[in-house]
Amino acid sequence: MDEAQGSRRRQAVIFLGPPGAGKGTQAAELSRRCGVPHLSTGEMLREHIVQNTELGKLAKPIMHRGDLVPDELVLKMVEKQLSRPDYERGFLLDGFPRTLPQAEGLDRLLETGGFGKPVVIHFMVQPNQLLRRLAGRRTCTVCGRTYNVFERPPQVPNVCDDDGGALMQRKDDSEEIVGPRLDAFYKQTEPLVEYYRSHGLLEDVAAIGEVETVTKAVMEAVCRPR
Ligand code: AP5
Repeated sequence: MDEAQGSRRRQAVIFLGPPGAGKGTQAAELSRRCGVPHLSTGEMLREHIVQNTELGKLAKPIMHRGDLVPDELVLKMVEKQLSRPDYERGFLLDGFPRTLPQAEGLDRLLETGGFGKPVVIHFMVQPNQLLRRLAGRRTCTVCGRTYNVFERPPQVPNVCDDDGGALMQRKDDSEEIVGPRLDAFYKQTEPLVEYYRSHGLLEDVAAIGEVETVTKAVMEAVCRPR
């Protein structure tokens, strides 16, 4: 995958990091620059909740208490999405995998789909920064663009710069849900750092500083010859 056109074919990139680390922000930017689809399991699950599907009904109480949705449901949802033709040449995964069974399931999907080994970008941010980013996050209800009232505010409070849409705060960004979400990350997802490191696939990125600085570091890590 490169900025011009995605010359490395069939490349999967995984963004791994705690809630609020900036995965969604960077995935939107890389997807735009590299012209590859961005699959966010959190976004997909929230859409199921809005559509009130069977999966949405199951996922809603789990997500609203900050726990992880069961592996088999998430794997099935991802498998279906990855079978779409626009995913054939490569994609960015944001928020997936989040457990060892999900990582092993993804390994099987990548092998079956003829993909090479993924590149795993590990977003590193201190916990106090994460709390501030999550507390300040606001999302446009029309286009999904993400702002931060402390660090990256819109020009007019609560209004999207791009389309004038109203900004909203995610339900699971409330103080009482952020704690369980961070616990779930450190207990169930952080072990994947060692899993991917031991396979030689991990690239550590200090996801702090200006968004553009982080984008540059992520791009360099994704494009590093290996
Ligand atoms: P999901 O939607 O995936 O949430 P998350 O992983 O908790 O990550 P976030 O979206 O909170 O953070 P982010 O890293 O994308 O940060 P962002 O770029 O927005 O999952 C939600 C829930 O769905 C889970 O809790 C679980 O229940 C369920 N789920 C999802 N996937 C699942 C799976 N695979 N298995 C089981 N369950 C699953 O940035 C955050 C803020 O920081 C923004 O305000 C942004 O503007 C700001 N910011 C970004 N970069 C910077 C920077 N460099 N400097 C300053 N501020 C910045």
